[in-house]
Amino acid sequence: MIPTIIWNDNKVKMIDQTLLPHELKFLEFDDYRDVAQSIKVMNIRGAPAIGVAAAMGMALATIEYKKLPKERFLKSMEEAANLIRSTRPTASNLFWAVNRIWKIISTFPDEPLNISELVIEEAKIMAQEDINVNKGIGKNGAALLKDGDVVLTHCNAGSLATVQYGTALAPVRAAIEEGKNISVIADETRPRLQGARLTAYELHYDKIPVKVISDTSSGLIMRLGKIDKVIVGTDRVTSDAVFNKIGTYLVALAAKDNNIPFYVAAPTSTLSLHETIEDVTIEQRDSSEVSNILGKVQIVPDGVECLNYAFDITPFRLLTGIITEDGVFTPEELLKKYK
Ligand code: MRU
Repeated sequence: MIPTIIWNDNKVKMIDQTLLPHELKFLEFDDYRDVAQSIKVMNIRGAPAIGVAAAMGMALATIEYKKLPKERFLKSMEEAANLIRSTRPTASNLFWAVNRIWKIISTFPDEPLNISELVIEEAKIMAQEDINVNKGIGKNGAALLKDGDVVLTHCNAGSLATVQYGTALAPVRAAIEEGKNISVIADETRPRLQGARLTAYELHYDKIPVKVISDTSSGLIMRLGKIDKVIVGTDRVTSDAVFNKIGTYLVALAAKDNNIPFYVAAPTSTLSLHETIEDVTIEQRDSSEVSNILGKVQIVPDGVECLNYAFDITPFRLLTGIITEDGVFTPEELLKKYK
């Protein structure tokens, strides 16, 4: 797959994921406010991709404000950081990325004239790091997959959710590169259909076998013996649970009941192990995403309320392992290594 987001000639260039699978179109922004909006309306989405977009948005803000005296520069950058942080509340990577850029900004000693070069450089490094980390997750996760395995995944934690290569789909890609026959079953993932639209798109694009199922099918398909492993991504890992796209919890319960290994692919930028479940805000999006299919066909009677939680909580007890760029860990091992 082509990169989801790049820094190009002092602009942020990204795939508009709202148009997939019908149209592969790029958006280009030179204003951090537009990057913030693109995260909010999900032109770009997926925790690692959001993180890199946030860093690049901060880089655009430094270009805009670099000629200001230091005090006004810092104040304006704080406003930019707050706007970017306010776009989506659940993915750790958004806050991690803004904080990482903020460290450079806040320790910059002189007039802010060449700060933007430093920040642009850091944002580009973060984009490259993302790809390297995903390759590490791929290598570690591929060791769990046997020739002929069928992997179930939920939402899209693939190339499109990162700069490239993906997290949950990285083990699939790496195992195939190693010569194993692996195929994927993708939950459609209501209401935004990231599985049907995006996971199916990128795997089909890369000629990796994929079948899409309705969200409610996965329990039966596991029972029928058609799934060997489940691998999903995550937006945040706390000391007791994994937050991921709504529906993940039900998949984890079904996997447990059917003795199917359930793995979570998590770059270390997604770990937030100083927190517990209670610390995390679960994003609630507009109810129209549930009452309408992709804003086109209304499926709920006028006047009926809908609830639209974007993420759910899978407790550690349902996980077989967490795949990071450093290895595969049980939750206990993960806490021991990173907390
Ligand atoms: O609402 P989205 O599309 O941003 O949600 C994405 C997910 O839930 C992914 O599984 C998660 O961000 C991990 S992406 C590598």
